[in-house]
Amino acid sequence: MNKTLPKLNYNYDSLEPFIDAKTVEIHYSKHHQNYLNKLVEALDKHPELSEVPLENILSDLDIVPEDIRTAVKNNGGGHFNHSFYWSIMNPNTKKIPSDEFLSKIGDFEKFKKDFTDKALGLFGSGWVWLVLNEHGDLEILQTSNQDCPLSMGKKPLLPIDLWEHAYYLKYQNRRSEYIEAWWNLVDWEVVEKIFEKYNSR
Ligand SMILES: [Fe+2]
Repeated sequence: MNKTLPKLNYNYDSLEPFIDAKTVEIHYSKHHQNYLNKLVEALDKHPELSEVPLENILSDLDIVPEDIRTAVKNNGGGHFNHSFYWSIMNPNTKKIPSDEFLSKIGDFEKFKKDFTDKALGLFGSGWVWLVLNEHGDLEILQTSNQDCPLSMGKKPLLPIDLWEHAYYLKYQNRRSEYIEAWWNLVDWEVVEKIFEKYNSR
């Protein structure tokens, strides 16, 4: 497993005005880095896992020795979820999926409302995702803490981080404003590429 953070495809201030530079900097260089550090620390206790891709580990946490399982679930999830989150944002997006992907999502405004409602309704810290479920259908999923959809047998396509550290500096308690702003950053081309990759396997 790569022990360094994935490079961002943009600068800290590139997501302004939707997500402010200070939030991106702290979120990436402190919070995300901390998940990665703790994951590495846990895995160092079991070198036999060092060559196993993180996706495989999170897809089957039972392969992880019990003494580090919780640490790997939380910090491996934290590393995977954040890497995903950074990768699907882009300051220059079309803001709307392709016609082909829209045909799978259905009414785009209804989809955004359903996703937003789930994000607003999430209690405490966690994430909301668009995933491909066990039946190959699109589904909107809430996850708590740093739980990863892979551990639930779902294939992740689009995550929003709903921990307060993702928005509190700019939006304080106004989670709805953060979510509304975040839609402007969703890179549907990346989401669709991931969807195609799943379907070609
Ligand atoms: Fe986060």
